[in-house]
Amino acid sequence: MDALSLAFALLFYAAAGVFAGELGRRIARYASVPAPLKIPTTPAPTTAAGVGLRMAREVILFESLFKSSLWTWIFGWLFHACLLLVLLRHLRYFTQPVWSWVAWLQPPGVLAGLGMAAGLGGLWVRRLGVERIRFISTPSDHLMLALLLAIAATGLATKFFVHTDVVAVKIFFLGLMRLDPQPLPPDPLLCLHLALVAALMIVFPFSKLLHAPGVFFSPTRNQVDNPRQARHLADWAARLETER
Ligand code: HEM
Repeated sequence: MDALSLAFALLFYAAAGVFAGELGRRIARYASVPAPLKIPTTPAPTTAAGVGLRMAREVILFESLFKSSLWTWIFGWLFHACLLLVLLRHLRYFTQPVWSWVAWLQPPGVLAGLGMAAGLGGLWVRRLGVERIRFISTPSDHLMLALLLAIAATGLATKFFVHTDVVAVKIFFLGLMRLDPQPLPPDPLLCLHLALVAALMIVFPFSKLLHAPGVFFSPTRNQVDNPRQARHLADWAARLETER
């Protein structure tokens, strides 16, 4: 095994470890922090099924963003929907045989790569161009956009301009999953794409991108509006009551 392939194999094992370990830890923390107050943003559903539906609209359609900022919604939704398609298209590198619906998704998946870059570009232009938003932006806001855009740009460049051996890429990743590392094509652009992906996996659980699992734990979205029917008690308050 050559040094480059070995380095990437170790990098991806480390990145997967940090990603899964820290993400699991963060989610466990979100799940165990008590929500002391009843604070669903009203008008809010009065049943658990209604909350499920509201959450689905929030996660699939970004409903509250739509109501608050149309331009952010357009670019944000475009980016996320395209990202989903791009990730589903990438499943072909990790499955053998490739599922038929993944094969079917290949052409729209390429278009989604372009849409993903357009969405990110729009979000970045807004962040830089709208004075009010630029003022509250931190370096990490820009860094996340730069990282995602660089991943999309290197992926698209590999697809359209500097081709790589995608079969060898697949053999490398199937090998990693079977704990039997195989050689990686030594193409600079592919290696850059993969190094940036590994960097994303490592920063993800420490960054603002945690909003992806976090939205499910948001009390303003996941609470039932029933304080007149049932008394709301946070876990710690319930424990205090029984100890008394
Ligand atoms: C370990 C994971 C990944 C591997 C092995 C991988 C590999 C590749 C390869 C080989 C290509 C070129 C496709 C071709 O020439 O036909 C590509 C394209 C692309 N990649 Fe990745 N990539 C990974 C993760 C990601 C992630 C996480 C993103 C987004 C955040 C991403 C975004 C893209 C985009 C937008 C393209 C261009 C459109 C396309 O061909 O799908 N990749 N990737």
